Amino acid sequence: MAKYRIAWMPGDGIGVDVMDAARIVLDKLNLDAEYPQGDIGWEFWRTEGDALPQRTLDLLHSVDCGLFGAITSKPKDEAQAELIPDLQGKGLTYRSPIVRLRQALNLYYNLRPCKAYPGNPLNYRDDIDLVIFRENTEGEYSGVEYHPVADELREMMKKHSAALGNFDDVPGDEMAMTVRVVTRRGAERVIRRAFEYAKTRGYPTVTIVEKPNVLRETSGMMVRIAREIAGEYPDIELWETNIDAQVMWLVKNPQNYGVLVTGNLFGDIVSDLSAQLVGGLGFASSGNIGDDLAVFEPTHGSAPKYAGKYVSNPNAMLLTTKMMLDWLGETDMAKALEDAIAGVILDGKVRTYDMGGDSSTLDVANAVAERL
Ligand code: NAI
Ligand code: MG
Repeated sequence: MAKYRIAWMPGDGIGVDVMDAARIVLDKLNLDAEYPQGDIGWEFWRTEGDALPQRTLDLLHSVDCGLFGAITSKPKDEAQAELIPDLQGKGLTYRSPIVRLRQALNLYYNLRPCKAYPGNPLNYRDDIDLVIFRENTEGEYSGVEYHPVADELREMMKKHSAALGNFDDVPGDEMAMTVRVVTRRGAERVIRRAFEYAKTRGYPTVTIVEKPNVLRETSGMMVRIAREIAGEYPDIELWETNIDAQVMWLVKNPQNYGVLVTGNLFGDIVSDLSAQLVGGLGFASSGNIGDDLAVFEPTHGSAPKYAGKYVSNPNAMLLTTKMMLDWLGETDMAKALEDAIAGVILDGKVRTYDMGGDSSTLDVANAVAERL
């Protein structure tokens, strides 16, 4: 039996292209693993009415971790229209499988490193090395949403928050609500992970990015808990910033930041911005991590227009693979892979279109593999 079982989930579009690239380096590294296939993505929504079939969740419960490419998500009406005729009118609703997977498997934080590798012409600056801890199961992405908003619900909510009275003249079907849910449990665990990471990797600061001056309850709770936890780490300084100012600071002085921790929606935004500082979506890796299971994925989506063309930059996927190896405890392999990726970037000869080259996805993977 292999040492590891890794659920292999290419998903949609360029997810397939970049996962092929990952396999080239994993095979070259001789990782002792088997890779059972996990079904996920648009095709399974269309033909089965479920983009994340139960069998895939069962598989994920039985493996060491998962490696995932990307999925396509479309708005509600389009999703309905593309269902096969047999599934039309059955009241099925599409929800992003990756959001569901994070919640169903309790992968409660999303780790997103953004590091500038020397020689990358897309770097905004060469001295950026920051990492974002994004809360991954609650916040605005909890799935608690209302449209139309029922009178009964409005009356009840108004009893507890008079501010809703400002919308009394708006009919319920002309109003939509998404609830931002923050729990002590959810906030504590992601913030604690951020401090632990800072401690083990020697980062001097943790920045909590919220908006407590306006989002008094939810951001207020996040910041309060961050202060409590900071008390347990006297050697690490807690910086408190507001999301709006933080994105400005990240453009102005990204080199000043190390570990950032934030809620689900803010984290989504800050991580795409930060990804762009170090070369864009072609370089942005991520891990959805829980207590004893994790699913690793590049930050980018399925980029439908490039699907199957093998032109996409696999570095995000290869850096994601490196993160997976670290998490599995294969730190030597992880280091070797990162060095090989950095070597190919610095060498500058094998580059995909986004870096100004015309090499293919698999050319880059092979160049990395050659250095292993
Ligand atoms: P996207 O990330 O798929 O692509 C946006 C653009 O970024 C692409 O057109 C391409 O120009 C560039 N790009 C992305 N990855 C690249 C790579 N590896 N190398 C070079 N260039 C790259 O985002 P978009 O267009 O907003 O969404 C397309 C689909 O992907 C949608 O259905 C969306 O719902 C889904 N999506 C899925 C995600 C996931 O699987 N976690 C995340 C984001 C979007
Ligand atoms: Mg995103």
